Formats: sequence, structure tokens, C-alpha cells
Amino acid sequence: YYRSFSQLQSRQERPSFGIAFDIDGVILRGRVPIGGSPQALRRLYGDSGALKIPFLFLTNGGGIPESRRAVELSKLLGVDILPSQQVFIILCFGQLINSFSRFENKLIVAIGKGEPSLVMSEYGFKKVLSLDEYASYFENIDPVSQYKAWTTKQEFNGHSNPKELVPRIDVLSDKVKAAFVVSDPVDWGRDIQVLCDILRSGGLPGQENGHQPPLYFAADDLEYQAAFPSNRLGMGAFRIALESIFNRIHHNALEFISYGKPNPFVFNNAEAILRQLQPSSYQYNGHTRSHPFKTLYMIGDNPLVDIKGAKQAGHPWFSILTRTGVFRGKENHAEFPADLVVDTVEEAVNYILKKEC
Ligand code: G3P
Ligand code: MG
Repeated sequence: YYRSFSQLQSRQERPSFGIAFDIDGVILRGRVPIGGSPQALRRLYGDSGALKIPFLFLTNGGGIPESRRAVELSKLLGVDILPSQQVFIILCFGQLINSFSRFENKLIVAIGKGEPSLVMSEYGFKKVLSLDEYASYFENIDPVSQYKAWTTKQEFNGHSNPKELVPRIDVLSDKVKAAFVVSDPVDWGRDIQVLCDILRSGGLPGQENGHQPPLYFAADDLEYQAAFPSNRLGMGAFRIALESIFNRIHHNALEFISYGKPNPFVFNNAEAILRQLQPSSYQYNGHTRSHPFKTLYMIGDNPLVDIKGAKQAGHPWFSILTRTGVFRGKENHAEFPADLVVDTVEEAVNYILKKEC
């Protein structure tokens, strides 16, 4: 039993535990910190400001590059969350880059809020267009675009009038080889229309039917907690809408793969990254080695995503469900009960530190 982390370190031991925090509904609601998250996170740093407990963020949200998200989170939470401090935000397409290497130099489209094409370019994809930019090269592809005030504000290649646009890529002959839904789609109607065009034509909107290019979703959350009091429709809801429509207008059912939590590979990756953050990882034969964790805590608000994922991943994951987001029940969730239910993330961190230190 050690009173403090410094005592723990002075005995040449390491914390045999780590923590993965969900963001939406646990740490933030919209852009507002919740559940005492700034205080809770501050307890994971030492007096010098160095990280003392290995932790990372395990979010299904995305749309901006990880480096920028780290800076944004640091400002919102008042703690230094920077990649150089070895605190990671896991975005699944980045973790899977090797399996997607066949698309590295092929035309792909990236869908969602924020800057999905920048996110994919930073992962190493060389020929990626956002669906916004891609759609803008096809006159009349969205028959109701004139009723959307925001379309006039978009600017690509320095032009604001789509008729003046010079496509950076010959979209009329270069087939889209894959579509990646990176973050929550903004203009569902247009996105469903253009995705159906791309997918049923084999990658060339307006052409005859062709072989469906692969479609990947970063996550499959039906609902999530944002700033509004009740849950908002997430990427999983968009997937259901797209799939239902596609299957009505096309003879072959939509084929797709969804990543993100609760997929066990996300939790395995998190474990590998947390292992590198252990203060006492050591060098052996030129490789960084670490001891296995006794416990990894997943603190989440969504039973079907965070708790199901931690349960499926098995040992050493221990799931903690908060009441600040999707889940608001008095007792535990019936189908995917967590190992522990608490009101807030601060309560969860208090429990962990009391038990471990
Ligand atoms: O759009 C974000 C949402 O799908 C979930 O985010 O942080 O709760 O995994 P998070
Ligand atoms: Mg959440």
C-alpha cells in the first residue's frame, strides 16, 4: 500500500494500471467540461506537470487532426494534453493505415464534419477529396442545393462559384476507389445522395451501375451525448439511413465495415499505447519493454459502445459507466452491465486512485 505515486516510483515500481477516457458524455458535453473532468485529469499529473498515471482518450468522435484535437482539449480542460507528452487520442483509420495501403495513391472520398480530408491526408492517403469538394465538381448532383444557404459560402481552389471550379483530380474519369466516413456527416441528404451515386455506379456518379467500392465508417454510434439535453443521432444512425435507402434503390445490399468502439481492436491498440506510457517501461535488446497491466479502466457513458467494448476485450479491462451522457439509469445497464456505475468521471477517478495508490 503506497501513499503517493512518488513513494511508488521510489520503490522502482510502476502503476500496474492505466485509464482510457471516453470524451463525449464523460469529459465534455459539446465544448463544455463535465463531471469534474478538469480536476479528475489534473490528479493524473505530478507536481512538476509530468504525467504520472498512464492515460489516453478513446473516442469515436473525429473530424480534426489528432495534434489539433490535443491542443483544443488542453485548452478546454486546463491540462497539457499533447502528443509529445505521450497522451494519445485514438482515431481508428490512423491505426489501420497498413490495411488500407492499397488506397494510398488512389482516389478516395472522406465524409464528415470538420476537415475529414485533412485527417486522411495526415494518415498518409495521397489522393483524398472531401465529399463537399467532390460533390461541388458535379453540376446539379444535389437538386436542392440552391435552398441551402451555406453552399454559397464554400470555397475550393480559391473559387466560390462551382462553375469556375477546376477539379484538382479528373473526377469524371478517375473512379472513387473507397469512401471513408471519418466523422458525423453534416448534410445528410446531400451525402446520402452522392454516396449512393458513387457506390452504385462503381465510383463514377452519373454512370451505369458498377461494382460497389468499399465503404468504411469510423464508428457506429447510434446516439451520443452532445450539448443538447437529449441524445443526438450519431454515425450509426447515418449508416442506417444510407443503408436503408441504398438497399431500396439497388439490387445488391450495401457492403460496409464499421470500426471504432466497441470493436476489440480499439481496446487492444489502447492497451499497447498505454504500455508505452508506463513510467517504468525498460529497454531490452534494443526494444522498449513493459510489464503487463493488472487493470485497465475504461470510463464511458455509452453501455452499447464503451462498456460492451471493454467487456468484449476482456482482461485486463474494467468498465466504469458514468451517468453524465447517454446512460442516465439509476441502476446498472441491463444488457451490458458495467463493473462499476458512478455519477461522474471525477467519482470514477477517485475510486481508481483510492483502490490503486
Ligand atoms: O460523434 C462522437 C460520438 O459518436 C461519440 O464520441 O467520445 O463518446 O466516443 P465519444
Ligand atoms: Mg461517449
